Parts: sequence; C-alpha cells; structure tokens
Amino acid sequence: MTVTIYIPRDSGALALGAEKVAKAVAQEIETRGLDAKIVRNGSRGLYWLEPMVEVATEAGRVAYGPISAKDVASLFDAGLASGGEHKLSLGDPEKIPFLAKQTRLTFARCGITDPLSLEDYRNHGGLKGLENAIAMTPADVVKQVTDSGLRGRGGAGFPTGIKWKTVLDTTADRKYIVCNADEGDSATFADRMIMEGDPFVLIEGMTIAGIATGATKGFVYIRSEYPHAVATMQKAVEVARKAGVLGVNVMGSPNAFDMEIRVGAGAYVCGEETSLLNSLEGKRGIVRAKPPLPAIQGLFGKPTVINNVISLASVPIVMDRGAQHYKDFGMGRSRGTIPIQIAGNAKHGGLFEAAFGLTLGEIVDEIGGGTVTGRPVKAVQVGGPLGAYFPRSLFDTPFDYEAFAAKDGLIGHAGITVFDDSADMLKQARFAMEFCAIESCGKCTPCRIGSTRGVETIDKIAHNIEPEKNLALVTDLCNTMKFGSLCALGGFTPYPVMSAINHFPEDFRPTPVAQAAE
Ligand SMILES: Cc1cc2nc3c(=O)[nH]c(=O)nc-3n(C[C@H](O)[C@H](O)[C@H](O)COP(=O)(O)O)c2cc1C
Ligand code: SF4
Repeated sequence: MTVTIYIPRDSGALALGAEKVAKAVAQEIETRGLDAKIVRNGSRGLYWLEPMVEVATEAGRVAYGPISAKDVASLFDAGLASGGEHKLSLGDPEKIPFLAKQTRLTFARCGITDPLSLEDYRNHGGLKGLENAIAMTPADVVKQVTDSGLRGRGGAGFPTGIKWKTVLDTTADRKYIVCNADEGDSATFADRMIMEGDPFVLIEGMTIAGIATGATKGFVYIRSEYPHAVATMQKAVEVARKAGVLGVNVMGSPNAFDMEIRVGAGAYVCGEETSLLNSLEGKRGIVRAKPPLPAIQGLFGKPTVINNVISLASVPIVMDRGAQHYKDFGMGRSRGTIPIQIAGNAKHGGLFEAAFGLTLGEIVDEIGGGTVTGRPVKAVQVGGPLGAYFPRSLFDTPFDYEAFAAKDGLIGHAGITVFDDSADMLKQARFAMEFCAIESCGKCTPCRIGSTRGVETIDKIAHNIEPEKNLALVTDLCNTMKFGSLCALGGFTPYPVMSAINHFPEDFRPTPVAQAAE
C-alpha cells in the first residue's frame, strides 16, 4: 500500500525549512525505492514544532518535528514510513496537548487534508453547508447565521447575520461579497493559515454568503505579503470552478456565484473596510466616511457584504451543523469558537481554536507555556497594534468581546503578543503612536497630526522634559484621537498608549538623575 507522508506547504512551515525537508524526503523515497507519496498539507498551527511531518499508518497518523533536512535520512532509517520511533517522534498529533485541548470547528481540516483536493475536502465534511444553503431560502440562510451568534472576526465583532440581512434587504442590480484578507494585525496568521491550509472552506463560506444575499460576485482582497496564500487561493478557485462549485449554476442549482483573487498594495489602513473597497476599485486606499454603509453602497456603489476570512470560513460549519450547534460554544454574547493566535515571546507560539471564555492567563501561561526566554511575562498585547497591553493583574479576563471592552481592551482579530519583563512600555507606547503616524491615511486631523505630536510628546517624557505635564498632554491627546478620529486607526491607537501608561506607570516615571547620568 502506498504510504502517505504529509509535509506542510504553509508559509510558516516554509519559513522554517519545510521545502528543504520535502526535497530531502522525496530523495529518500526515490533512493530507497519506497512506495510512498508526499502530500503538501496546511499547518496544524503548532509552530514551535514546524516543520512537522506526519505519516499515515494503519494505527493513524504519526508526527515528527521539528524536522530539518539533515534529520530526514535518520528518520527513514528509524522506519518513518511505518511510524517508527525516533528522537523527533511526537506520536499521534491529535494527542499533543496543544491540539488535544482545542475545539476545532473552523480549522477542523487545516493541517489534515490536501488543501487543493476537492475530493479530500468533501471526504472531510466539506460542501455540506453549501448544499443545505442551496436548499433553503436566502432569508432562512441569513436567519441561521444570525441565530448562530457569529460575530465578525476581523476586529469589530459586528453580528455577521445582521450585516447580511442589510444586503439581502437592499434592492440592486448587482451585489458583492468581499473577503477581507488583509490581515495586517501584529501576531495574526489565522486568515493566512485557512487560505493556505483549507481554501475551499473560504470559497464555500463566500458562496453561501452570495446565495444568502443575492450577490453573484466575490472578491478576496489578500495582502501582497502573502504570495503563497494568493497562489493557493487562485488554484483553489480554478478547481472549484471546474467542479461546478463556482459558476453560473453553483452545484447544479439556479444560483450563480463566482469570485476573483485580488492582491493588496501593502498598507495597514487598506484592511479598514472602506479603504479596502477604494483599493479594490483601483483608487488610493483612503477611508470613506460612513454612512453610507458598505452594506448599502459598497463596492462600485453596490450593496456589499465585507467580512473577514474567519467570519466567512466559519459559516460552512454553521450551515452544516446548524445555528444551535455553533451557538452552544462560547460565553455571553461571544458565541462559537475563536482562533487565538499566540505570538511574540511565547514558548508555544501557534494557533489555538477554542470556544470563547478561556482566561488570558490560561492562554498565556498554560497554552502558550509562558515566554521563550524563560523570563516572567510582563505584558500581553491583545488585538494587534491597536490593542491594549494587559498586565498580569488582568490575566483573569475571559476571552470575550464584552469582558475585554470592560477592561479598556479589545479582542480584535485575536492575536496575542507576549512580552517578558525586559519590555519597556514607554517604548511600546511610542511605537503605537509612530505606527499610527506612518500608517495614517491622512484624512482626519486627530490621527494625522495627533500621532506625530504623540511621538514627540512621549519622547519628551523619555528625556525627562516636564514629564508630568507631558503625560497629561498625551492623555488629553489620546482623548481627542479616541473621540475625534474617523476610523479605528486613529480612534484605537490610544488603547495601547493609555494601557501602557495606566498599567505600567513605573516605565513613565522620570529617570532618577544619577541613573540618567550613567
Ligand atoms: C485600520 C484598520 C485595519 C483593519 N484591518 C483589518 C484586516 O486586516 N482584516 C480584517 O478582516 N478587518 C480589518 N479591519 C476591520 C474592517 O474594517 C471590518 O470591520 C471587517 O473587515 C469586517 O468584517 P467582519 O465583520 O467579518 O469582522 C480593520 C479596521 C481598521 C480600522
Ligand atoms: S483615523 Fe487615521 S486612518 Fe482613519 S480616516 Fe482618520 S486619518 Fe485616516
């Protein structure tokens, strides 16, 4: 029987040498005359173990990692093809605690299937949600999504079903589904993992969105820094089109839906939905004032659903298992699961999909394993560059939109950056202002001018120039940016700045004269 060896094609694994490993494995198969084939799968998201190679044996999959090309010959000597023991053996990957503790709904197939095999996708439950959607009325599909409690995973947490209903209820000759795959937040990679590891789930989710709202055309706007995601999505769209999943008669139904992949030009603000729409239309990526809402007048002035990759990729499971199944996970108004991305100075960096409700402490200490440097965790930034810094004293905060907002924080796209006790929070606050100054689209004054003044004022504090007065000035400036900015780039930059000042005041205190002189 032909042995199947899985080697990830995911960017994270490639960055860690997966291509060299794949070449070495192919060479060993040939030299040893083995009856084996290589499948380039996505990643399971355990990045400290990548490149992680898996072999399908009669007793199930056996994993090895992290593997480098020089380990490959010894792995084959140890009987890798039949799951033999080796110092890099990890056993059954599903039993690795980081994976075993997860609730994988959206990422159920990621790292398991061949990303570009529609047959594999179907064999692992794919397309059932779309089949169900085709058999229902658009209003019932929208109701399912609303009832599931799914909220946008791009950052704002807006209920997905309500957005879809606005588009469904707006009459127009053409409507669009736009997938936001700009994924600009620090510490985030969930969108990329899905697009590279299970692209059909996104295609299925977008097609369901089209059927539910009456849109016949979709666009995936992917950041240019993701060439592998772009290539995988393009190929997957071709495969889906050829199989009749996309096209004038989606899966033999009267519904038409097709899609295109578009590559962004590399600005953080192009992740903001209206800026993204301008960029898609070939204009400069500058924020549009709302109203009108994109759901009413979006791409090319037509009603448009704009959703994050994970929001759309979570729809097939809702439509397959039903709204209640999805809603049963989570807490409060945060329903279902969320792919938490652990990065920065974390021992076990990777993607952890779980129902809402884990505490930040559980995520950082137990799942993330603390810092890779072994030093104490000082701060955790949650929600990307516009997210607040949480100190250890707030580690009992549950992962829930409302609980984070109550602590002046945000979940955002669920990226977590861990910092050890060597972090200087004044520098981090300065970085937030500097980031805003560089990435500002320039449309409104609080953001464009405020961020530059913010950098200057924090520099004065760092140089002991009237520190008390300048701290008060930064606070005042943050209030102006928070309440006076047109979009969340200027409006949320105060979160990292003020959380750094409020939770780590010692880093903003005037340096004692003797120390400053050293
Ligand atoms: C500066 C800025 C950058 C953003 N970047 C992204 C991004 O990279 N990906 C994303 O999905 N949403 C991003 N958003 C949020 C989008 O504007 C929008 O809320 C989201 O695409 C809606 O989809 P959802 O409802 O599925 O979350 C950003 C917002 C702002 C203000
Ligand atoms: S807050 Fe900043 S990024 Fe947003 S519209 Fe204003 S200037 Fe542009």
